[in-house]
Amino acid sequence: MLKDIPLSQLAVGMYVECYGDGSFQNPRRTLREFIHSPEKIRELAREGVASVTIDDSKSLAGPTPAGERRRANKPPDTEKPRRAYEHCLLHVLDVMDKVRRGCEVDFSDSYTAVDQLMAGVDENPAHMTLLAKLRHFDDYTFRHSLNVSLLSIIFAKHLGMQGDDLRRLAFAGLYHDVGKFRVPVEILNKPGRLSDREFAVMKDHSRLGFELLRGHPGTDKEILLGVLHHHERYDGTGYPLQVGQEGRDRFSPIISIVDIFDALTSRRSYKLASTPHDALKAMFCWRNETFPPGMLEKFVECFGVYPPGTFVRLTDQTHGLVVEARPESPARPVVKVNFSRRLQPMLPKLVDLSATPKSAQGGVDIEACLDPGELNITLERFI
Ligand SMILES: [Fe+2]
Ligand SMILES: [Fe+2]
Repeated sequence: MLKDIPLSQLAVGMYVECYGDGSFQNPRRTLREFIHSPEKIRELAREGVASVTIDDSKSLAGPTPAGERRRANKPPDTEKPRRAYEHCLLHVLDVMDKVRRGCEVDFSDSYTAVDQLMAGVDENPAHMTLLAKLRHFDDYTFRHSLNVSLLSIIFAKHLGMQGDDLRRLAFAGLYHDVGKFRVPVEILNKPGRLSDREFAVMKDHSRLGFELLRGHPGTDKEILLGVLHHHERYDGTGYPLQVGQEGRDRFSPIISIVDIFDALTSRRSYKLASTPHDALKAMFCWRNETFPPGMLEKFVECFGVYPPGTFVRLTDQTHGLVVEARPESPARPVVKVNFSRRLQPMLPKLVDLSATPKSAQGGVDIEACLDPGELNITLERFI
C-alpha cells in the first residue's frame, strides 16, 4: 500500500516508490528502491526532499514516529532480516530456474533483492550471518548464491566499502556461480568425486557466468570481472585465467574468501560441513597462496575467531551457539547458551564473552567447538 510520509519518518528498510509533490519546483521522481543506509536519507534531505511515498507492502520497516529514531539500546529486529532473506531466496530460485531453462532473464530486477539484503544487514548483521550459516542441505546452490552475496555485503562493509560499490558487489556475489546452471546436471549434481574431465567442465562455470551476464542491464565491467575471477588465487594458481593478484578486479577477492568459507561450512552429498571455526583454521593454512596479504585477518576481525553459527562448549561446561562477533574482541563473541553440561535444554541466556572475565579470572572461556549434527542438535531451534 502506498503511503505519503514526511522525510523525518523515513527509516532504513523502507521501500520508497517516489518523492516530490509534483509541483514545478519539486517534480515527482520515481525511486523504487530500499533505503539501505542512513546516508541515503541524508542524501534526500540534501536534495531538499520534504516527503516521500513509501510502499508498505514491500518495506522491511514501518514508519518511525517523528522524533523517535531507533535508539542504540533497542534490541535489533530479527523478523525483518529473516523475511528479507527468505524473499531473496525465492527471487534467486526463480531467476536460476529461468537460467536453467534457457529463458530470457532481466537480471537488473535483482537489485530489489540486493537492496533487501542490504537493509537486512543494516538492521541486524549478526542475525543475517546466522541465517546464512544454518545448515540447509537440499537447496545448496541457491542458498550458496544468496549467502555469498550476503556475507560479501557484511565483509565489504567491514572493509569500508559502501553505497553503489557495495550494491554492485552484492549483485556480483549473487551471480558468481550462475554459470553452474549451464553445466550439465549429471555433473553439477553428481554425488561423489568428479573425474578430471568432469572437473574441467565444472571449472568452466566462471567463464560461462561471465558470458551469460555480459551485456545485460544492471551489469558492468567490474561485476563481470568479479564473476570471472572468483576462483582466481593470489599466487596465480586459480582458474580460469591464472591472472594472479595483479590482473584481478576489486570484487573477486572479497567474493572468493566468502565463497570458500560458505562452501567449507556447507554440507554436500560428498562431504560433511566443517564448523565455522574449523573452516577458518583450514583457510589459515592456505592464506598465503589464496588471499591477498592481511585479508583473512580482516575476515576474522569481521566474523570472529568463532563466527556466528559455531556451536561451542564453554569452560563452565554449558553449551551454546555463537550469535554475534565482537570485532574488538574476535576470540570472545556473544554466545546464546541453551544447553546444560549434559546437553539438556535450559532457559536461553546471552553471554557476551567480551564483557565477561576470562576463566583464569574466575569467568568463562570457549573450551571447544562441537559439531551440532553429531549431537543431533538443530541450529534453527536457537534463533
Ligand atoms: Fe564458483
Ligand atoms: Fe561459489
